[in-house]
Amino acid sequence: MAQLTFFVSICVLILSHSFISGLQATTFTIVNKCEYVVWPGILTNAGVPSLPTTGFTLQRGETKTITAPTSWGGRFWGRTHCSQDSTGKFSCLTGDCGSDKLECSGNGAAPPATLAEFTLDGAGGLDFFDVSLVDGYNIPMLVVPRGGTGPNCTYTGCPVDMNDSCPSDLKVMSTDGGGGVACKSACEAFGQPQYCCSGAYATPDTCQPSSYSKVFKTACPLAYSYAYDDKTSTFTCANADYTITFCPSPNTSQKSSKGQNEEPTSPLENSTMEYEGALDESAASRSSCTNVIIGIAMVMAFWWSWQLF
Ligand SMILES: *[C@@H]1O[C@H](CO)[C@@H](O)[C@H](O)[C@H]1NC(C)=O
Ligand SMILES: *[C@@H]1O[C@H](CO)[C@@H](O)[C@H](O)[C@H]1NC(C)=O
Ligand SMILES: *[C@@H]1O[C@H](CO)[C@@H](O)[C@H](O)[C@H]1NC(C)=O
Ligand SMILES: *[C@@H]1O[C@H](CO)[C@@H](O)[C@H](O)[C@H]1NC(C)=O
Repeated sequence: MAQLTFFVSICVLILSHSFISGLQATTFTIVNKCEYVVWPGILTNAGVPSLPTTGFTLQRGETKTITAPTSWGGRFWGRTHCSQDSTGKFSCLTGDCGSDKLECSGNGAAPPATLAEFTLDGAGGLDFFDVSLVDGYNIPMLVVPRGGTGPNCTYTGCPVDMNDSCPSDLKVMSTDGGGGVACKSACEAFGQPQYCCSGAYATPDTCQPSSYSKVFKTACPLAYSYAYDDKTSTFTCANADYTITFCPSPNTSQKSSKGQNEEPTSPLENSTMEYEGALDESAASRSSCTNVIIGIAMVMAFWWSWQLF
């Protein structure tokens, strides 16, 4: 009897572990496809455990994997044109977090910055995520869920280079005359409540898209272009992992004379394929796991019945 109890508890343990770990560990794979170095920053929301890093260097072509705890929430962004001065102070031209160091240690991004925002295991056990241009734009980003399920468990992002399409009164120019490096939100540029969705404009009904937010929405229809852009910009997945790519299309990282509407097709087609591939992969790993458990159960049942005689 003791063996049976032991055997059953082992089974329950294995099964519940594989079930819980499916919910628990969410993996973020961060990829730099830009023609330049990116220094990602991470800010964890208040009241949830933080990730093992809050800022690091990602060389051209480099990939970094980060595992997030249950119910993690926070944002990722990319810092560009970073350097360390003679006193050792680290700072970036865009997305700087003001920590004076590589790690952001609880500081957020100075706008303008493209943000990838996540709330894992939120309402209904779903992950909520989006790419936001509400704080402006500084780098092309794409978020692709892998292995998740749900009606709108799909890629989102702003894969295009907006430096060129940025209205001149929102443009941030590089100090060395090298052209646009980022694009401010109208809220940041003008500070007016109708752009910031504040004051009399603090509800979804009163805060409407502006001519400025429409520029962002046209360039990147899946990304948040102003504060109440939820309907077309929030995505949800159950049990997914996520790949966050900077400059998903090779051409978004370079000066290009092409129109911005042409480029997003190729990274999105590619990411859809990646996404479907990941689905198959996770189904396969789940069934082989079941086989292992059945195998163990058979061996243990045989061993236990042998003990009886
Ligand atoms: C995705 O689903 C959520 C939750 O149902 C919904 O609020 C959101 O509008 C949907 N997003 C899109 C882009 O359809
Ligand atoms: C990138 O742009 C170059 C020149 O504009 C073009 O020849 C090349 O095919 C483009 N690559 C992709 C992946 O779109
Ligand atoms: C856009 O901004 C990035 C990041 O600051 C910069 O490296 C790139 O050269 C800019 N692209 C254009 C077309 O100016
Ligand atoms: C996918 O990306 C690769 C390079 O990463 C490119 O050669 C290929 O043409 C892309 N495929 C599609 C369908 O855009």
